[in-house]
Amino acid sequence: MKVAVFSSKAYDRTFLGAANAMAGAKHELVFLDARLDCESAALAADAEAVCPFVNDRIDRAALIRLAGQSVRLVALRSAGFNNVDLATAQELGIAVAHVPAYSPHAVAEHSMALILALNRKIHRAYARVREGNFALEGLLGFDIRGRTFGIIGAGRIGMALARIVQGFGCTILAVDPVPVPELASLGGRYVALSDLLAMADIISLHCPLTPETKHIIDHDAIARMKPGVMLINTSRGAVVDTKAIIDGLKSGRIGQLGLDVYEEEGNLFFEDLSDQLIQDDVFARLLTFPNVLITGHQGFFTVEALSAIAEVTIANLTAFETHGRVIHAVPPQG
Ligand code: NAI
Repeated sequence: MKVAVFSSKAYDRTFLGAANAMAGAKHELVFLDARLDCESAALAADAEAVCPFVNDRIDRAALIRLAGQSVRLVALRSAGFNNVDLATAQELGIAVAHVPAYSPHAVAEHSMALILALNRKIHRAYARVREGNFALEGLLGFDIRGRTFGIIGAGRIGMALARIVQGFGCTILAVDPVPVPELASLGGRYVALSDLLAMADIISLHCPLTPETKHIIDHDAIARMKPGVMLINTSRGAVVDTKAIIDGLKSGRIGQLGLDVYEEEGNLFFEDLSDQLIQDDVFARLLTFPNVLITGHQGFFTVEALSAIAEVTIANLTAFETHGRVIHAVPPQG
């Protein structure tokens, strides 16, 4: 099957190419730098499938254009599918597949890396020591042991993080409409969102972006948090209201902020913009805070995760070509 792989980088070529070769080179993968949207959809003119990533925009206009060509499958190489207009895809008879679980550990471990770095100010210490400044003022952290850790969205990634923080000796609170028994075996408990916000010293977001979770962290939620709380978002940018977060940082309500995702990241992340001026004033303001640590959507970026993403994506393509049905459909098929 001919597949137009959008937003592709060298690592996509490496991992998807290897997985395709392992599966007998069944598919013709055409790697494109462009992000998929209604304009660039024309690049998939003679492909049967497109393979987009997290910041491609597979909206109604893009889908209508793809359907008017020969595209019958959108095979996402991500877990999240908030960037696809699923109703239109269904209406047009375009199947949508994703990679539901490639390595929850990759994102959970990255969340923990942000927490540890922020708490002990590793980003500041690194720069200081290289300048010959060995003063400790401003680097004071706290023991994570004994702290209350709040997880919003205790699914695959949230539970992987719960297992990690159990090892740190934290009290674990979770908010999730779908409870799992394992949380209790880690000593954790489910609470209402308002209770988690009021009790947690560290809050980490791992819910998908849906109409219900959009801006779940807004001015009101921040006002309910403990003064000086650490907030971590590695899920999707729009789960938090970034302007409200900036107000929370300025007032000191939010003591430390770690982000791997950003509401308007589509204009920034995954590209080297180091010789350009950042035009996004909200993002630029975030960068001015010493107690904010931002990474550019790299939570998934481990060898294990990229291998799994590539293998599952190729398997989705092969199943669709062979049986007309993908393995991991969005929404899930019975
Ligand atoms: P998952 O589907 O296993 O878990 C999500 C959990 O959120 C589920 O248990 C669900 O019940 C819960 N949830 C849904 N609505 C909620 C609400 N209103 N409040 C609280 N919880 C709610 O998904 P997984 O694999 O754990 O991934 C979570 C998210 O992480 C993805 O949707 C994606 O946006 C993000 N992600 C980020 C990556 C990165 O590189 N930074 C990589 C992979 C995923």
